[in-house]
Amino acid sequence: MTADRYQRLLSPLALGPVTLRNRIAMMPHAVMFGAGYGSAVERTIAYHVERARGGAGLIVMSNFLMPDSWRRLGAWGDALETTPLGGLDLANDRSLQPHYRRMIEAIRAEGACFVSQLNASGRQLRSPGTTQFGIPLFAPSPLPCPRTGEIPREMTIGDIDEYVATMVDAARNMQEAGANGVELFAAQGYLLHEFLSPATNLRSDRYGGTLENRMRFLLDTLRAIRKAAGDGFLIGVRMNGADGVVGGLEIADSVEIATRLRAEGAHYLNVSGLTSLHYPGWIADITAPEAQFADDAGLIRAAVAGLPVCVSSRIATPEDAEAVLAAGQADFIGMARALISDPELPNKAARGDRVGIRVCTYSNQSCIVGLDRGRGVGCIHNAAVGREAQLGAGKMRAAPHAKRVAVVGGGPAGLAAARVATERGHHVTLFEQAEALGGQNLMTSSVVSRRGFAEIHRWQIEMLHRGGVDIRLGAMADRTTLVGQDFEAVVIATGSLPRKDGYTSLRPDVPEIPGAGADRVVTVWDAFQRPDLFSRPVIVIEDDPHLSGTAAAEKLAERGIAVTIVTPHMHAGANLPVHHAPALYRRLSSLGIAVVTATFVVGIEPAALMCEDRFSGRRRTIDHDGPVVLAMGNRANDTLVQELDGSGLDVLVVGDAFAPRQVDAAIIDGERAGWMI
Ligand SMILES: Cc1cc2nc3c(=O)[nH]c(=O)nc-3n(C[C@H](O)[C@H](O)[C@H](O)COP(=O)(O)O)c2cc1C
Ligand code: SF4
Repeated sequence: MTADRYQRLLSPLALGPVTLRNRIAMMPHAVMFGAGYGSAVERTIAYHVERARGGAGLIVMSNFLMPDSWRRLGAWGDALETTPLGGLDLANDRSLQPHYRRMIEAIRAEGACFVSQLNASGRQLRSPGTTQFGIPLFAPSPLPCPRTGEIPREMTIGDIDEYVATMVDAARNMQEAGANGVELFAAQGYLLHEFLSPATNLRSDRYGGTLENRMRFLLDTLRAIRKAAGDGFLIGVRMNGADGVVGGLEIADSVEIATRLRAEGAHYLNVSGLTSLHYPGWIADITAPEAQFADDAGLIRAAVAGLPVCVSSRIATPEDAEAVLAAGQADFIGMARALISDPELPNKAARGDRVGIRVCTYSNQSCIVGLDRGRGVGCIHNAAVGREAQLGAGKMRAAPHAKRVAVVGGGPAGLAAARVATERGHHVTLFEQAEALGGQNLMTSSVVSRRGFAEIHRWQIEMLHRGGVDIRLGAMADRTTLVGQDFEAVVIATGSLPRKDGYTSLRPDVPEIPGAGADRVVTVWDAFQRPDLFSRPVIVIEDDPHLSGTAAAEKLAERGIAVTIVTPHMHAGANLPVHHAPALYRRLSSLGIAVVTATFVVGIEPAALMCEDRFSGRRRTIDHDGPVVLAMGNRANDTLVQELDGSGLDVLVVGDAFAPRQVDAAIIDGERAGWMI
């Protein structure tokens, strides 16, 4: 596949005072490395420079704002808060300017332009996330936020004036640090958008009511920044096409807003959609339509002829991006997760290496969920995210001595180990007892809602072929195979096996569910591998919070089988942060899957399940004589570890064989082993 296919995408674009080298813009995303290891500032710099080096034309960075009065409020007890999230993420903090300058210089030296988003979050954060001192959130009207439940304070005129001044100060700070411009954030239910939308702006003063009034805060800010920073400084606006909320902005309103922004001299519009009611709907998972905002962007583009329009959300590949451009729906394409997953996507597209792109799975599992859990952005299959300085592009270091390495197991951990080891110069032989590589990921990716997981092993296998790994399928490796073949190191990546006893950590006194040994009681793996066992209604007993129970339920329901999930947790798929659960429940509901929560199964009888309410202990019976699927987590499959005991081989155990975890942990384990040999 050649780069000619991406002629539009790879062509330059004039954006106000600057020209982008291509039409790929990294969309702003908070990285929040403050809670991780190492210097949050250095990690943030390395992260953004990596994506410029990977070829994006524009890097839009998410930066927060702290008005002076918050800073004063937060300064009691001699504990001045300087940055809300602990990293290089506070646009109006002048003490951070040298770090910003260093980062922006490096980004521009890589050939990309740099714009700082001015992220005024409004009610859609948690107050401790804004400052650690419980300062209330601000909004046009004191309506509780559907994402967090937080009740904001209605902004006074003084608050609004202060915010405008803060944004001007931030823009000047960024300009002095070398930024090409700033992006005003008037989308997705954040502060400026809350003023625009009649659903969240109930004010009766000059900032509420008519569109002109609702736009006043945004336009005052735009004009004030223009006045302070001059015409040569880029000002873009991120805006919604439609809110998807009754009483909120419709596309016709947004077209009007766009037209007014054009008249006010905005340099570009960055079209997104939805609000805090839908979080994380604009960070769409794989079940949402591709390029979900492209139609709205196209309508806005038609109304503002000549003003460049960007669009984002689940535009995964160069060909998807090219198609949006070809349809005339946008002038440039925004990518956040596609560049988290593979910062080098633009360069690979340019050199025609489409298959070498590590395509985003749209699982949201380590990026947005990682952020929501406070551990900073990560990626399910890019272990270098947040570790760019150590593991980023071009950081592969040859091993001091090339060794003969055996990797046993071709799941995500084994494939990761084999890739890194071979790229470091080792001679790798990979043994996989099945006839295909991918391990448990093959099952996961066979569920419609998780089909993106196939990209994980597709990319890994491609890299192994490029590295010349000796891949042996249908090959069991035991002590004889390994000891007799001059291997100097062995990576054991033999995975795990599903538990069959029904043990749950919530009832450590009960080693197994009575009746779990019956023939009709099977495991999640059977739900994938033994379709012949299922023709009648099924009950899935779920304890594994890693979504294996819901995956099995979806897989069976996709075949038209009636499924009920019984879980002791508060919701099915309990490992998901609570505001991600609605997307899961929408899927379960559309497949007709029933969920019984907070319920232990305490006995499996021939025609019934004996259940107990987790909190009250009340007993009930569910009549059921069909198959029962246990989704209770796995046990490490580590017999080879014992077999190799005393063999003299350098043995490393990785992934589920070490301890059953999620796929991102397996990949990190595997890559680490590849580095350790
Ligand atoms: C971890 C993460 C953090 C994000 N933070 C922001 C943000 O601070 N400001 C913003 O406008 N959008 C933010 N977004 C949304 C992205 O800019 C983008 O609109 C969204 O991810 C859809 O694009 P994609 O499918 O290319 O990822 C974030 C997205 C992710 C994944
Ligand atoms: S964690 Fe998943 S959704 Fe997020 S960037 Fe990585 S592959 Fe994409």
